[in-house]
Amino acid sequence: MTLNSLRRCFRASILPLLMFAVIARAGAPKTYTIGMSQCNLGEPWRVQMNKDIAAARRTPEFRIEYVDAQNDSTRQQNHVRQFIQKKVDLIIISPKESRPLTAPVAEAMKAGIPVIVLDRKVEGDNYTCFIGADNVKIGREAGKYLVKLLGGKGNVVELKGLMTSTPGQERNKGFRDGIKGSKLKVVAEADCKWLEPNANNEMRSILSRFPKLDAVYAHNDPAAHGAWLAAKQEGKGREKMITFIGIDALPHEGVQYVKNGLLSATFEYPTGGKEAIEVAMKILKGEKTPKHITLGTRVFTKEIPEGKRL
Ligand code: FRU
Repeated sequence: MTLNSLRRCFRASILPLLMFAVIARAGAPKTYTIGMSQCNLGEPWRVQMNKDIAAARRTPEFRIEYVDAQNDSTRQQNHVRQFIQKKVDLIIISPKESRPLTAPVAEAMKAGIPVIVLDRKVEGDNYTCFIGADNVKIGREAGKYLVKLLGGKGNVVELKGLMTSTPGQERNKGFRDGIKGSKLKVVAEADCKWLEPNANNEMRSILSRFPKLDAVYAHNDPAAHGAWLAAKQEGKGREKMITFIGIDALPHEGVQYVKNGLLSATFEYPTGGKEAIEVAMKILKGEKTPKHITLGTRVFTKEIPEGKRL
């Protein structure tokens, strides 16, 4: 084949194909990649968050890459940094702890990648948008609920969530505000790190040390369930002498426990997955979004199984 015939062949066949590809590409909608960094998928509430995100992702222009840090902050730091290297268009993060995840989020922002922080906070305000419910309010409502239920006095156990995470700190602060001025006394407390087996162990030891307990305030429903099981496992019917309350109110978890009479109340803690996708779409379209979005909560009791807004 001569050089001229090669040129003719290129003009006749490859060139039109190339032009077609360029035009087709220009007409195609831009695809965005979102990196979703989940701190763990061992708890039903987090599985629900990812489901809510997937259900809200209606447009095919969105590709979501999910990673699971398996409750390890160092692994989660690496995940965020990998997203930065890959130059994803946006990051959604639900951090395990606030301090260790603050720097990687700031690095993403510096690289020009918008970051939506979901549920647990990072330190400072170097992110694009935070979405979560008001944990101080939820804790306060839980406190007020117990004051009323126990007639203003009693011995309470507080089974806390991971205290290096903001919901743990805020649910503790709100609760203490809520019981202020009453004769409710927190006689025992433990950091159960959000995990049911930890709550079960802690509660077993507390039950053996405190013969008179009136209520357990657990920072999440898995911990409330773990505590209830410990009381039942004692075998003296103590689970019937103690009031248990929790937080999350997943329909197939906490709300079910209330229906079955295990818990007296659970307070809803929405995952924010749907809202995160709505905000992500706006950010990627260049629209303005609020810096902070506060989600609502509801209380579920036996009397109000459908829940009441607070
Ligand atoms: C799941 C969870 C929820 C809790 C939330 C607080 O990991 O422990 O039960 O409400 O995290 O961040």
